[in-house]
Amino acid sequence: MKKICVIGAGYVGLTTGTCFADLGNLVTIVDIDERKVENLRQGILPIYEPGLEEIVRRNAQSGRLRFTTSYAEGVRDAEFVFIAVGTPSGTEGEADLRYVRQAAEAIAEVMDHPIIIVNKSTVPIGTGDWVADIVNKHKKNDVPFAVVSNPEFLREGSAVYDFMNPDRVVLGSLNREAAEQVAQLYLSLRAPIVITDLRTAEMIKYASNAFLANRISFINEIASICEALGADVKEVAAGMGYDKRIGSAFLDAGIGFGGSCFPKDVKALAHMAAIHGCHPQLLRAVLEINRDQRRRLVQKLRDILGSLDEQVIGVLGLAFKPNTDDMREAPAVEIIHLLQNEGAIIRAYDPVAMNNAKAMLDGVTFCENAYEVAQGADALVICTEWNEFKHLDLKWIKEAMRRPIIVDGRNIYDPETMRQLGFLYRGVGRGYGV
Ligand code: UGA
Repeated sequence: MKKICVIGAGYVGLTTGTCFADLGNLVTIVDIDERKVENLRQGILPIYEPGLEEIVRRNAQSGRLRFTTSYAEGVRDAEFVFIAVGTPSGTEGEADLRYVRQAAEAIAEVMDHPIIIVNKSTVPIGTGDWVADIVNKHKKNDVPFAVVSNPEFLREGSAVYDFMNPDRVVLGSLNREAAEQVAQLYLSLRAPIVITDLRTAEMIKYASNAFLANRISFINEIASICEALGADVKEVAAGMGYDKRIGSAFLDAGIGFGGSCFPKDVKALAHMAAIHGCHPQLLRAVLEINRDQRRRLVQKLRDILGSLDEQVIGVLGLAFKPNTDDMREAPAVEIIHLLQNEGAIIRAYDPVAMNNAKAMLDGVTFCENAYEVAQGADALVICTEWNEFKHLDLKWIKEAMRRPIIVDGRNIYDPETMRQLGFLYRGVGRGYGV
């Protein structure tokens, strides 16, 4: 049993701390947000993440997981202090490191025994060295410490599973012994462990996210070409995916990637490249294609409906992907803004992200369910592939709509079945004009 402190109770920090507690360690999670900490003490989570609440409660009850707003309390006995705070995008796409700085300074002030500081936040290459400098400058006691980079690869919606079943654990440090001590925390997960230097570990995280984003933009570009040439991108992706060198993951064409990671990390990597004199042409194209996917969906509606002024458009799904209430960079937000700019009237529904969506979207009528959205709509748009949308009573939906038009941004329906049901159906990259 190791004593671990985690700074930040967001997706990464909460999942990491809770899972380490579940593996038998004694964990204290520090967050400066008093309300969040108070809620967590009562078992109320700030995020929707399947399975996490139960594990938080179980480990809190057993005394292995605690929450506090006090750095001193968190760092007091800890052998490992994980930094898992947010790194939002700055104005130029660069990662904003103010929370990492605050965490490093606060750790330095209370640290009174040797610790290993482990950085889990996605940070620009070189941040590990910078954190070490900040801690050296601010430490009140002359105690040794090491900095290890340990990027996180978990996905929202399957965070607990991903933490417990990693494809690999990446550790980077100038202090190999410290990296090996962190490796011990992961041994029971039986994953390959890559130990490297700090900057390489930080780059592995950016390169991995950028590569996955690249796959999505690649298949979206192929989808646009499929539309022009009369091929079906779903079958193209399936046919490509059997090749072991390609694989089938992350080849779903649609309205593009959103969320708190891919858009931000690709922008940050492109920014880092540019300020060091590189020309990140591929990364820029990945972002441009992604933005165009939203516009192409709106264009499909224009092609069918003509002017969008006063047309009632029903939007099904608001979260950036299913199984999360996260609305950050959700394609639905941009699509709704584009539609509203042209005078469309928006009705919308999401199974879990509605509260977060309400805070971000004005002038939208939020409905109780998909059927209510469909009532009187001139067209329906699918923005998130929630399972419940795959099993709707489409005959009922068709009767309820003013016009039976569905523009499916996630390719959840079969075009032929939709045609037989009498819908005018448009997916992404699915044959001529589709
Ligand atoms: C992503 C990575 O998958 C994680 O490995 C990483 O740890 C995380 O970012 C992070 O850096 O913190 P996440 O943003 O939770 O995880 O979501 P993904 O499941 O990767 O999906 C990202 C976006 O890509 C979603 O909007 C999704 O709809 C879209 N997507 C995904 C596609 O459009 N097509 C696909 O084939 C796959």
